[in-house]
Formats: sequence, structure tokens, C-alpha cells
Amino acid sequence: MLAHIKLSEITKSFGALLVLNGVSIEARSAELIALIGPSGCGKTTLLHIIAGLVPPDSGAIYLNDVLVPNARSHVAYMQQKDLLLPWRTALKNALLGPEIAGEDLRRAEAYARQLFEEFGLAGFEDTYPVQLSAGMRQRVALIRTLLSQREILLLDEPFGALDALTRAELLEWLLRAWEKSPQTTLFVTHDVEEALKLADRIYVLSERPARVKAIMTVSLPRPRDPTHPDFVHLKAELLRTLRSP
Ligand SMILES: Nc1ncnc2c1ncn2[C@@H]1O[C@H](COP(=O)(O)OP(=O)(O)OP(=O)(O)O)[C@@H](O)[C@H]1O
Ligand SMILES: [Mg+2]
Repeated sequence: MLAHIKLSEITKSFGALLVLNGVSIEARSAELIALIGPSGCGKTTLLHIIAGLVPPDSGAIYLNDVLVPNARSHVAYMQQKDLLLPWRTALKNALLGPEIAGEDLRRAEAYARQLFEEFGLAGFEDTYPVQLSAGMRQRVALIRTLLSQREILLLDEPFGALDALTRAELLEWLLRAWEKSPQTTLFVTHDVEEALKLADRIYVLSERPARVKAIMTVSLPRPRDPTHPDFVHLKAELLRTLRSP
């Protein structure tokens, strides 16, 4: 299942605070898109609008070229806060999507157990969220998102609470999962290297109110080596763009 999504001139204020100032972004089928921008510029708000949690003031959203109010029933959304249910075990939290969708739970559970293994969570399947570290909870939330089988993935800083090593590991794992079954993905990150390792295109957002400051296409073959001269060059350019007014 693949979908493409396009946002056109999205504007949003909270009271007198203008947060999004005509933001247009597009994720084509199976594309990995990174959104990068200063803290508080409106990245999470943008994902909320796509997921239908917040209505835009103006602008349009197109799903597969059809105008829609939002893409609620088409997205799997990993929020910035992990939002695990405290009364369910890690495994049962991960299986929430398939359970709600009424899917074959035995198959979903087998896949979930495999993901727990690959994400370094083997042995923690029956643990409750309160007993897990922040990074472990984040991994459970990521597994839950990957299991929910929607056409579009929204990932809000999926590796935010992890140490550098675990981050790099999970990033490589996510990339392998995506290469096996490419999904249209929009992810928010503060990390330029993460964006350059993963993304087909990077949208650089300005300070609030957010507008698209630049779009960088990254056509290097994956897996990308951060020491490769082309990578180093793009990283310098991306940092320059981020810092420019
Ligand atoms: N429901 C809301 N009501 C009022 N203001 C809000 C609401 N949601 C977000 N804001 C404001 O909108 C602005 C953008 O917030 P948002 O969470 O989208 O930023 P962000 O780019 O995701 O930041 P970060 O990188 O720190 O996660 C902030 O000033 C925030 O205070
Ligand atoms: Mg945010």
C-alpha cells in the first residue's frame, strides 16, 4: 500500500501566535522526507494537521491527488511523546494497531516479537512501560508505528531520547525495514546527519512562523557514509541553510 501526500500553503495560528505561514510540502510514494527546523517552529503542529489532530486555518491537503480534510485514517503516527498505555505490557502496546484494525493477531505478534529482537528489546515483551527507560519506550512506540500498516508513516523525532550509539543502530534498522518495504515517510529530526543518512529530500523550515526555507535533494546511494566527501559537502550546506536567516 503506497500513497503520496501533498500539503499546499498550510497556515495555522494558535490565538495571536502565527505558527505555520504557508507551508507546502510533498511526500511522493515510498519517499523518505525529513523535516528539520528550530525548536518551536511548528514541526509537530504540521504533523498534527496531517494526522487530523489539529485543523489548519487555511491551505489544502491532497492524498493521492484528492483533496482531503486530513489524512487521519491513512497515517501511522509516532508522536514525540511515546504515549504508551501504562496498563498494557510492551508487547500489547506494540500490538495496539493490529488489534484495533481487527487483524490476524498471531501473525502480527510473530512480527512484533521479531522487531523486539531486532530493536534490542528481547526479554522485555511482558514488561510495563513504567519499568522501561525512555529510550526503550521510544523503541516500543516505533515498533507500534511500524506494525500499524498504514500507507503513510509520521515520525516525530523517533530517536530523540536515545543515546548516539542506539540512535545510529535504530536508524540503520529503520532504513533496512524501509528498503524491504518502502513506505511514504515524513520524519522530524533535529539531527542533520540523521536527515542526510535517511532522507530522499529534506525540507528546511524557518524559525516560527515556519515557512519552507529550502528543499535539499539527497541522491547519494544508501547506506550513506558520513565521511564521504559528497556527504560532508551536503552537511556543510545543510548547516549553512539552517543557520541562515
Ligand atoms: N495546542 C496548542 N495551543 C497553543 N499553542 C500551541 C499548541 N500547540 C503548539 N503550540 C505552539 O506552537 C508553536 C509550535 O509548536 P510545535 O510543537 O509545533 O513546535 P516544534 O517545531 O515541534 O518544536 P520542537 O522541535 O521543540 O518539538 C509553539 O510556540 C507552541 O507553543
Ligand atoms: Mg515537536
